[in-house]
Amino acid sequence: MAAGSSGSVREQVARIETVGTLPEVMTRIMELVRDPEAGALDLAQEIARDPALTMKLLRLVNSAAYGLHRRIMTVPDAVVVLGFDEVERLALSITVIESLGLDRDSVRLTRQLWRHSLACSVACSVFELRYVTLMPNLRGAHVAGLLHDIGKAVLMQHFPETYAGALQLAEEGHCNICEAEQEVLDGYTHADVGRWIAERWDLPHPLVEAIGGHHEPDIDAITEPLAHVTHIVDALCNTFGIHSGPGTSCGDINPKSIAMLPIDNDLASAVRAQLNRHQNLISAVSAGAMF
Ligand SMILES: [Fe+2]
Ligand SMILES: [Fe+2]
Repeated sequence: MAAGSSGSVREQVARIETVGTLPEVMTRIMELVRDPEAGALDLAQEIARDPALTMKLLRLVNSAAYGLHRRIMTVPDAVVVLGFDEVERLALSITVIESLGLDRDSVRLTRQLWRHSLACSVACSVFELRYVTLMPNLRGAHVAGLLHDIGKAVLMQHFPETYAGALQLAEEGHCNICEAEQEVLDGYTHADVGRWIAERWDLPHPLVEAIGGHHEPDIDAITEPLAHVTHIVDALCNTFGIHSGPGTSCGDINPKSIAMLPIDNDLASAVRAQLNRHQNLISAVSAGAMF
């Protein structure tokens, strides 16, 4: 992307048609996420308005990889069996994957990335549940977990050769993935690319900061607790081995992020337990049922 390419990295990302606008159904689902009054029926109705999304969602939850013991025939049925958060997570994932035109052939990396993103989303829910009363901007934290590495997805999909160079640098162990990306992307990282996309999609400010700041939450410009939560969750999932590719397991948790939150001693084990409870979802993504 860098040498010999037309325009700056940012201009090239801006020219990608598929990241131009946030799909309408995603906008509406995300409004429901932030609405404390919204219930399961609202979500089911919203999804049902999109027949293609409904079909994909039902196909996914009925896949062998998902491992449910009963057949799910309708979206409201899925909400009853799987819960509001899980169905919403699936609906958003399917919509993002479709709208970004993520390549079903780049299977290994895309699956790994999406497995990591869903695990981070599940882990973010633990923080959301514990701290949302204290920090209302954490409402919808699970969406930040899901979308925090969106820049990486776009780079893998739309700049495969350049990004392969970054992956190789990280794989050879010379540096972590952010440093490798800076090397090949004129000083930018997937977090920068994610921030540009989040701004373009007009996502709420806490989400923009979480996506753009999840690797450097201590810089002065980052003020949203959601960025710190996303940073901690990202590191925890990497520690648990649910990472998004080479060069991602080396980042320590920033002490400033820990200082920002009233972290309980049992938080890591609560995250672990929550990940275990959502094992079906994570296995289904690993098996490729999402694509
Ligand atoms: Fe990241
Ligand atoms: Fe990540």
